[in-house]
This record gives sequence, structure tokens and C-alpha cells, in this order.
Amino acid sequence: MQRITGKSRILFILGDPVAHIVGSALLNEHFVARGIDAAVSPLHVAPDDLATTIATLRRLQNVAGFGVTIPHKIRVIELLDEVGARGRQVGAVNFVRRRADGTLFGDNVDGLGFIGGLAKAGVELRGKRVLQVGAGGAGRAIAFALAEAGVAHLQIANRSHARAVDLAAAVAAAYPGCRTEAGPADPAGFDIAVNTTSLGMKPDDADPLDLARLAPSCVAAEVIMTPEMTPFLAAASARSCRIVRGKEMLLAQMQAASDLVGL
Ligand SMILES: NC(=O)c1ccc[n+]([C@@H]2O[C@H](COP(=O)([O-])OP(=O)(O)OC[C@H]3O[C@@H](n4cnc5c(N)ncnc54)[C@H](OP(=O)(O)O)[C@@H]3O)[C@@H](O)[C@H]2O)c1
Repeated sequence: MQRITGKSRILFILGDPVAHIVGSALLNEHFVARGIDAAVSPLHVAPDDLATTIATLRRLQNVAGFGVTIPHKIRVIELLDEVGARGRQVGAVNFVRRRADGTLFGDNVDGLGFIGGLAKAGVELRGKRVLQVGAGGAGRAIAFALAEAGVAHLQIANRSHARAVDLAAAVAAAYPGCRTEAGPADPAGFDIAVNTTSLGMKPDDADPLDLARLAPSCVAAEVIMTPEMTPFLAAASARSCRIVRGKEMLLAQMQAASDLVGL
């Protein structure tokens, strides 16, 4: 049972809408499990109110920081004092620390969460060949994180091919030791296949990649949290692949977010 008092550190998750947000509950569970005296609540903030909300949060002395979700992850950058290397690379921030003097430091922990989820599942990344489908917000964070984690070959497939080309070029420039390129959504020959698109959230969605070409040795990793078992994961499991659910990424982000805000 969480006991919030005047000594508790307070956080918010700023979004619009907020009804789908579950990260607040997970973060509260994380605090309770570790005996951290802090509490987090979603805060429904329309885009027009983002700047005034953040100006107010700066002045609230028991606020440790805040998370940022759709549609604020990019816009928030211009309202912060400092952005970490991952946030700058990705071009989006999802957690912000409020320092004692009211200045704000933001960074992106999506990639750390994804890598943490794989590590918890015992999936080795160093030297591996990875097919990543998707080059949106989550995809950008994950591509840089995979290269940073030492994968040998990263192929990025995306519906809008130009976005995959741009992302591959940015990752290759930042991590020349990783062979990074844009290519088709064909998992044959890869050790790990990752879905970072939103395909699989709705029942009539197309498959994110060519499921018939998944080898049993390929690890299938997902970012989607609802449904927990997407058609991609179900097909991979049926082909005897190891699977890593999107929930693992979110759970692993809790530690990274807690560290970022200094709790
Ligand atoms: N587990 C976690 O902790 C976590 C964290 C963050 C996000 N997520 C999940 O990640 C997913 C993506 O989020 P995001 O923020 O990256 O979204 P986003 O920035 O809107 O990117 C969406 C991606 O999906 C692709 N896509 C969307 N509809 C498609 C379609 N009909 N056909 C083919 N490709 C399609 C987009 O391709 P185009 O570039 O061609 O549009 C893009 O690559 C969501 O399900 C989100 O809930 C999970």
C-alpha cells in the first residue's frame, strides 16, 4: 500500500489522451517494491497547455520529474534546459528530471527499456544480426540502442522506406562498428526480429514482417503491449522461436526512468 505524505516525491505522466496510460501504475508498483517514497499520476495536458504546465512544474518543489507521452515527446524538447545524448539522437524525450533549482533535464529511456527487457529474457545482442521493422518514435530509440549494445548487423524495414533510410544513415554515422542499412521486412538469416511498428494492435492489421520466413532459431521481440500476445509473437511461438513481449520493455523502463529522475 502506497502512503503518500508531504515527504513523498511526486511525478506525473503528461499525455493527451491519458486513458490508455498504464506506465503510472507500473512505476508506482516499482516504487512500492523498492521502498521509494514517491508517487506518479497521469496528467491530461492538451498540446496548447504544455508550455504553461511545464513552467508550473518547474516551480513545484516536491515534484521529482515527469514522464511525457503522445503527443508531447518531441515538442517537450524546446521547453527543457538540457537534453541527454539519447534524447538528442532520437529527437524525442520521454522522461524529465526536475532538479532542485527548477531546471529540467530530459532524456529518452525507450531504448534502454527495450535492451533491458531483452537482457532480462537472457537474449545476447553483441555480434548478432537484427531485423528491425519500423522507424517511428519507438523504432528510432531502439535502433540506436541496438547499435550501442553491439549488434553486428542491423537491417531496418519500414512502410515509408525513406524514414528507414534516414534512420539507418543516422545510426551508421553514430555507430560505425554496426553494419546498419535499410532493407525488406524478411527475417531469413537474422538472429533477432523486432517489431517496433504499431501493426498488431488491431485485429485486422497486416503482419509487420514475413512470418513464414522466421527460423526457429530467431528471437522475436515486440514493442506492442496490448494485446500482450500479438499475431507476430503467436506466429513466432508456433514456429518454436523464443519471444519477448512488449510488456518487458515497459517494465525495464521503470528502473531507467526512476534512475533518470534521481529516485
Ligand atoms: N513497450 C513499450 O515500452 C513501448 C514504448 C513506446 C512505444 N511502444 C509501442 O510502439 C508502437 C509504435 O509507437 P511509436 O511511438 O513508435 O509510433 P509512431 O512514431 O507513430 O511510429 C509508428 C510506426 O509504425 C509504422 N506503421 C504504422 N501503421 C502502419 C501500417 N498500417 N503499415 C505499415 N507500417 C505502419 C510506421 O510506419 P511509417 O513510418 O511508414 O508511418 C512507423 O514505423 C506502439 O504500439 C506503441 O504503443 C511501446
